[in-house]
Amino acid sequence: MNFAAKITGTGSAFPKNRVSNSDIVKKLAKSGIETSEEWILERTGIYERRISDVENPKEQNSSLAFSAAQKALEMAGKSPEDIDQILYATCSPDTPLPSSGCWLQHKLGAHRAWAMDINAACSGFIYGLVTAEKFIQAGQVKTALVVGGEVLSPILNWEDRNSCILFGDGAGAAIIEQIPSDSSRRILYSHLLSDGNLWELLYVPAGGSNMEVTPERYAKKLHKLRMKGKEIFKVAVKTLADFALQALKKNQMTTDDLDWFVPHQANRRIIEAVADRLELPMEKILVNVDRFGNTSAATIPTVLDEANRDGRIKEGQMVLLDAFGAGLTYGSILMRW
Ligand code: UT7
Repeated sequence: MNFAAKITGTGSAFPKNRVSNSDIVKKLAKSGIETSEEWILERTGIYERRISDVENPKEQNSSLAFSAAQKALEMAGKSPEDIDQILYATCSPDTPLPSSGCWLQHKLGAHRAWAMDINAACSGFIYGLVTAEKFIQAGQVKTALVVGGEVLSPILNWEDRNSCILFGDGAGAAIIEQIPSDSSRRILYSHLLSDGNLWELLYVPAGGSNMEVTPERYAKKLHKLRMKGKEIFKVAVKTLADFALQALKKNQMTTDDLDWFVPHQANRRIIEAVADRLELPMEKILVNVDRFGNTSAATIPTVLDEANRDGRIKEGQMVLLDAFGAGLTYGSILMRW
């Protein structure tokens, strides 16, 4: 390989509306569903999340991604014309057709790029980053824009207290650039895996070509997300820990060599259980689930952007990204920042 890939800019954007646990308690109470601020905080570690006003064009999925991408471009010192490739990780696209990638290209005016969506749910940003890296290594792309963006709120069942408390809307973006293969600050290792046998743990029954949304199905909320939370919790803790240990072992490293662990932000208790298994102090783990909930493909790029901008992540540090999501999908990336 003549080339390697490196993140040179990051950005993120969220809708304005902050929804606290107390707001959720009131919202569910209107449908006669009981929950409490204490339960949500204790079982998830989430205080609040952002929810898009989907009637506001500025808060659509690709509009949040547009703001995030502008910030990432600015940090990288690039303009939309420099982008060769747009990879948009989402499971809540603006429209079934065209892709959110094409909506974003249109909004940015990135005329030279080709764009597509990647649906790997919460692992999507890692799948996008790995795909960009391979095109860059092959010499076909010099500058890629990888986005993780979600507006999940319209497909949440606001009468299912087990799932609606967890999720939020938002977008994160990263500019990935081609660098010489002997550069030390680059993506060093990646690992992707899916297990379609576990599809039933997190899915949306209707709205795809298998099942049109009819009035009857609409009434049964078949177009809304269904989740087996407890089962996912167990798989998540095991696979996040296994993927992290494997990444370190394959690179002759231990957790002591790691500066930052960046797990998918689904539930603070999942993150803490993985930290326990890895014997990694929480000080080395990036967390934003407390303020934004689970934003699916957007969790990793948004939490990464936050720590990049406030100076916690420094040049030359070792960073491990690690995710799981509906599918189920899994992925990890080890990089020197
Ligand atoms: O991006 C990835 C996608 N999803 C995930 O990663 C989800 C992973 N799973 C989780 O985060 C957790 O399993 C949940 C937060 C979904 C649930 O927490 P839990 O500690 O696993 O609770 P549980 O499912 O074991 O439920 C315990 C009890 C049940 O009542 P009973 O059966 O003990 O009487 C639930 O019905 O808590 C009840 N419960 C609630 N009570 C108050 C479930 N949701 C709520 C609620 N408020 N919102």
